[in-house]
Amino acid sequence: MKISHICCIGAGYVGGPTMAVIANKCPHIKVTVVDLNAERIARWNDDNVENIPVYEPGLSTIVAASRGKNLFFSTEVDKAIDEAQMIFISVNTPTKTYGTGKGMAADLKYIELCARQIARVATTDKIVVEKSTLPVRTAEALKSILDNTGNGVQYQILSNPEFLAEGTAVEDLLAPDRVLIGGGTDEAGQKAIQALVDIYANWVPKERILTTNVWSSELSKLTANAFLAQRVSSINAISELCEKTGANVNEVARAIGMDSRIGSKFLKASVGFGGSCFQKDILNLVYIAKSYGLQEVADYWEQVIQLNDHQKNRFARNIVSTLYNTISGKKIAFLGWAFKKDTNDTRESAAIYVADALMQEQAQIAVYDPKVEHPQVLSDLNYLETRDAASNAALVTSIGDPYAACHEAHAIAIMTEWDEFKTYDWQKIYDSMLKPAFIFDGRNILDAEAMRVIGFHYQGIGS
Ligand code: UDX
Ligand code: UDX
Ligand code: ADP
Repeated sequence: MKISHICCIGAGYVGGPTMAVIANKCPHIKVTVVDLNAERIARWNDDNVENIPVYEPGLSTIVAASRGKNLFFSTEVDKAIDEAQMIFISVNTPTKTYGTGKGMAADLKYIELCARQIARVATTDKIVVEKSTLPVRTAEALKSILDNTGNGVQYQILSNPEFLAEGTAVEDLLAPDRVLIGGGTDEAGQKAIQALVDIYANWVPKERILTTNVWSSELSKLTANAFLAQRVSSINAISELCEKTGANVNEVARAIGMDSRIGSKFLKASVGFGGSCFQKDILNLVYIAKSYGLQEVADYWEQVIQLNDHQKNRFARNIVSTLYNTISGKKIAFLGWAFKKDTNDTRESAAIYVADALMQEQAQIAVYDPKVEHPQVLSDLNYLETRDAASNAALVTSIGDPYAACHEAHAIAIMTEWDEFKTYDWQKIYDSMLKPAFIFDGRNILDAEAMRVIGFHYQGIGS
C-alpha cells in the first residue's frame, strides 16, 4: 500500500516528536497529529514555535520546517482518521489506579476509546500502528474491537514501539539504534509491515529496520526498558556493598564495563532511577508474568523495583543518621528535582521520595532545580498523599538561586546530575552553610577530594 496520509492520535511526548520527524523526512506524506486536548494542539500550532508543549533539543527547528506544509496539528480526530491510510495510536497508557491490576497493569481505556473511534469513522482499509507502550497481546484486543464494531473495512495491526529517551528524542529518532516493526505473518500482514518499513527507509538504513511478529515487538519494548533499569539496580546493589567494603563503585563500574560482553553504558550508580517508563514498564512486565502464572519470572523482575526503592530509602536514612539522628527543623538543600538532567520532567524522580522521607522527620527542604518550578514540586509531593497540601507547603520551598538555597543549610543533597552543579563556587557555598557542612552526592558528580579539602563532610554513592 502506498501511504500518502498519516494520522497520529495523541499529540504527547511520543506522538509529537515522532510525527515531526516522519513529516520532515517524508515530504510526500501528509501527517496530521490529533488530540482531544485543544490547549495542547493550540500550543503545537503556536506562532512562536518555541512554545510547543514538548521541549526537546532540535525539535522546534524540525517542527518549524514542516508545520503547515505536510505536518498539521488538529483537534478534528474523525477527519484525520478518515483521510489516513495509516493511523498511529500514541495515547497515554498510565498504570491502573483502580480495579484488577491496580498499581501494576497498564490502563488501556484510552487505547480502547481510540479503537472504537477508528472503527466508527473508518470507511476505507487502515493500517493501525501501536506506538504507545502496550502489554503483550494488546494487538489482539485492538483487532477484535476494530473487526467487531467497524464498517466492514480491513484492518492490519502493527506494533512499532518507541525507544526515544528524554533529552535526546530528536537524535534518537533521526539516528535510531534500530526501528522495530511487528506485524502479521500472513501476506496482508507482511504488506502492512512493508508499508511502514518504506516510510522509515527514507532516512534509516535498511539493516537497522527490524521486523518481527507482533508479540515479539510488543514484548521487546517492555524487555528493553526492564534490562536498562536492571543495569541501574545491579550497579546500585553493588554500590551498597562497596560502601561496606572499601571498594569504589565508579572503579568497579569502569572495570566491568570494559568487558565487551557487559558494556560501559548505563552503569552509573545513583540515588535511584526515575522517569515515566522504567517503573511502569517493569510493573507491567511483572503483572503479565503473573497473569500467566510465572511467579519466578515475576519475582525476578520485581526485584529490580524493590532494589530501586531500597536505594532511595537508604539514601534518606543515611542523611538522617549522619545528621545525628535528628533533622527536625533543619534546612536541607536539594540540588535537582528532575528525574535526570536536561529535562523538567519530574515523574517518579528519586528526589520526590527522598524529600518525602526527610519531611516525615520534619526537615525543611529547600529545592533548587534549573528547570522545575515550585508548583510542580508541590504537586509531586501532594500526589503521594503522605500528608495534606498545607503541611507539604510548610515543609518545602523552592529557591531560584542555588547559593541562596544552600545558605545556612545543614546539608546538601544532590538529586539530579545537572552539569551546572559541577561549576559552582563550592568554597562560597561552604562558607555560607552551618557547620559541619554535609554533602550527600546522589549522582557522584562532584570531586570528592576537592570537597573534603574545602571542609565538607562529603559522601557519594558507593564509596
Ligand atoms: C566465565 C566467564 O565468562 C569468564 O570471564 C570467567 O573468567 C570465568 O567464568 P566460562 O565459565 O568459561 O567463563 O564460561 P562462559 O562462556 O562465560 O559461559 C558460562 C555459562 O553460561 C555456560 O554454561 C554458557 O553455556 C552459559 N551462557 C553464556 C548462556 O547460557 N547464554 C549466554 O548468552 C552466554
Ligand atoms: C528510558 C529509555 O532509556 C528509553 O529508551 C525509553 O524509550 C523510555 O525510558 P528515559 O526515561 O528518558 O528513557 O531516561 P533514561 O535516560 O533511560 O534514564 C532513566 C533513569 O535512570 C533516570 O532517572 C537516570 O538518572 C537513571 N540512570 C540512568 C541511572 O541512575 N544510571 C545510569 O547509568 C543510567
Ligand atoms: P506519551 O508520553 O505516551 O506521548 P502523553 O500523555 O504525553 O503520553 O500524550 C498522550 C496524549 O494522548 C495526550 O495529549 C492525550 O490528550 C491524548 N489522548 C488520549 N486519548 C485520546 C483520544 N481518544 N483521542 C485523542 N487524543 C487522546
